[in-house]
Amino acid sequence: MVRPGGAVVSTNAVFDGAPASACPVHSLSDVGSRRQQPASPPGGERVDPAEAERFIRLYHQENPQAGPVEVRLRQVRAHIERFGTYWHTTRELVHGARVAWRNNSRCIGRLYWRSLRVRDRRGVSGADEIASECVAHLRETITAGRIRPTLTVFHPSAPHRPGPRIWNEQLTRYAGYQVGSGVIGDPRNLAFTERVRRLGWAGGGGRFDVLPLVVQAPGQAPRLYELPADVVHQVPLSHPRFDWFAGLDLRWFAVPAISNMCLEIGGICYRAAPFNGWYMGTEIGARNLGDTGRYDQLPVIAERMGLDTSSERTLWRDLALVELNVAVLHSFERVGITITDHHTESHRFLAHLRREEQAGRLCPADWSWIVPPVSGSTTPVFHRYYHQADLRPNYVYHPEALALARGDLPGS
Ligand code: ARG
Repeated sequence: MVRPGGAVVSTNAVFDGAPASACPVHSLSDVGSRRQQPASPPGGERVDPAEAERFIRLYHQENPQAGPVEVRLRQVRAHIERFGTYWHTTRELVHGARVAWRNNSRCIGRLYWRSLRVRDRRGVSGADEIASECVAHLRETITAGRIRPTLTVFHPSAPHRPGPRIWNEQLTRYAGYQVGSGVIGDPRNLAFTERVRRLGWAGGGGRFDVLPLVVQAPGQAPRLYELPADVVHQVPLSHPRFDWFAGLDLRWFAVPAISNMCLEIGGICYRAAPFNGWYMGTEIGARNLGDTGRYDQLPVIAERMGLDTSSERTLWRDLALVELNVAVLHSFERVGITITDHHTESHRFLAHLRREEQAGRLCPADWSWIVPPVSGSTTPVFHRYYHQADLRPNYVYHPEALALARGDLPGS
């Protein structure tokens, strides 16, 4: 999700403070160069030199000031040859992470892809440090309610040496508990909650209990970390016209920070690379709180609204859905936390498409993800088709990461 929200301008100076050779990883591996460090693909395989070359060429094409591409290509090829992998410069990493966002077909909020702030923590692979960097990430991404898109990158794995990972699908998620035939909390996270309970988490049994972070350092057992309450901003929901709404005691957290997608750049996989933008209201109002498989609040709201639920044809679900979405946008706005609505975001997305076209690029997009789950045809993104392509760099799901976030894992 993106929105300018004022000064979301970034400069390379902010990101490129440390040269790659300053990375503490250097001491871990016997690489011959001070300019590059080994990183790695998943599964301990060697980096595909063709993937690396494609990215390096793209980087140089989009950043002509970076110097001659052939020189860099020779270095990269030599490193892959010798170590099975190579190390991105900080500038390559930052650009790669931004282009990965630009290339992600499912995201409607890509207009401001250049504004992504990248926290380069590739020197970090210990669980304690990763957890505290995640906390710092959550703290830094929001200032006086204004969210700035942020990504933190941890150590990639070297061939035959896996990198760290975060099991949670997002840094913040609510627990779900099976109680008899019902669920208290978020049903989506039932199995994950069960899993962390078996790892020793007590769990409060409430509807909105923030799950602990589960961080696994290379070769070690996963460790649990509670997020400090002051970094988990939560918004209590109220409605501009329905006084009873606040009594439903609904809430949602402010920052959607995906933590189980792999950032893939030039053949290198950064499996631990949590990133966030801000919410579009429908994600919460239509899906998280509205879906029957989630908090399933439409019947409750319809009843409080006094709607006739005896027949689908009264469209009570639709009426309740709109009011729930009104409540979400109203509540975030009331406490001054960045959020966007699907109409505004649809227009921004079309502006993004035009800009990309002007830049001579095709913007890949997945209609089924771009069109909002509420009032699709009232938004301009509904009335057209998109170019489909699976480009790199990108944020991708590895099956193993999906399994971990679902709570099932080999050996569990
Ligand atoms: N849909 C997910 C959720 O409701 C968040 C996905 C990322 N969304 C975003 N606005 N960056 O938690």
